[in-house]
Parts: sequence; structure tokens; C-alpha cells
Amino acid sequence: MKLLIINGPNLNLLGKREKNIYGGQSFEDYFSTLKGKYPEANLTYFQSNSESEIIDKIHEVGFEIDGIVINAGAFTHTSVAIRDAIAGVTSPVIEVHISNVHAREEFRHKSYISAVCKGVIAGFGLDSYRLAVDYFIKK
Ligand code: DQA
Repeated sequence: MKLLIINGPNLNLLGKREKNIYGGQSFEDYFSTLKGKYPEANLTYFQSNSESEIIDKIHEVGFEIDGIVINAGAFTHTSVAIRDAIAGVTSPVIEVHISNVHAREEFRHKSYISAVCKGVIAGFGLDSYRLAVDYFIKK
């Protein structure tokens, strides 16, 4: 099995950014624990602050990989282009969020990508990523 986690804008600042919302752990730290927990997932990780790089990555892996876990960050609420990229590939995609976006500002309630994703996991902190990986493993 091969799975890719994609993190969008500002998620490179996890551990430093708005710790009251996103926690104090860096994604790199969390990712190495996750990899250790699911060696059979062949997990890789890609982060970009650029919409076009995220789209290119989805195109690059989206016809061969077993699953993509994406936290598109703020692009979730703005990007028709990322939605179209997800719709255009064959690998299943799970949308994740660290925070419960529905309990936050109204502009975070709308996701452009949910409708083209297999499912959505939000509000479980960094454990949201593990829940998505677990789904792919058990499937
Ligand atoms: C987020 C929620 C988004 O609204 C926000 O723009 C982020 C992070 C989350 O993981 O909770 O950057 O996707």
C-alpha cells in the first residue's frame, strides 16, 4: 500500500502557529510517529503553501497511489482548482482538518473539496490524520 499526506498553506507552522487551536507538535514529529505506527502504509508527506504545487502533486500521484489524505488548509474554503484536481484523479482522497471547522468562523464551514472526497474527518487534532490512514489500512 502507498499513501500520501498532503498539507496545504501554513501547516508548515504546526507547533508554532495558533497553538491553542492546532497544538504544540510539529507535523514532522507527528509524521515520524505515524509512520512507525503504520509501516505497511508506506506513508509519504508533502507540504506546500502554493496552490499550483498541490495540484501538480495530486496529478503526479493520483492515478497510482492507494490513497491521499489532504488537509488543504485555507484552500479548502477557496479552491475550485484543488477540487477539480481531486475530481480528475482516480485515487481516493480523504479530507482532514485538525480543528472542527464547523465550530469556528462561518467562512470555514464551506469546503470546496468535500463533495469530491471519499469522506471528511475534522476536529480530532493531529489524530484526524491517523483516523484517515486507519480507514485506508482497514479497507
Ligand atoms: C485547517 C482549518 C482551516 O480552516 C485553516 O485555514 C487551516 C487549518 C485545520 O486543519 O483545522 O489552515 O485546515
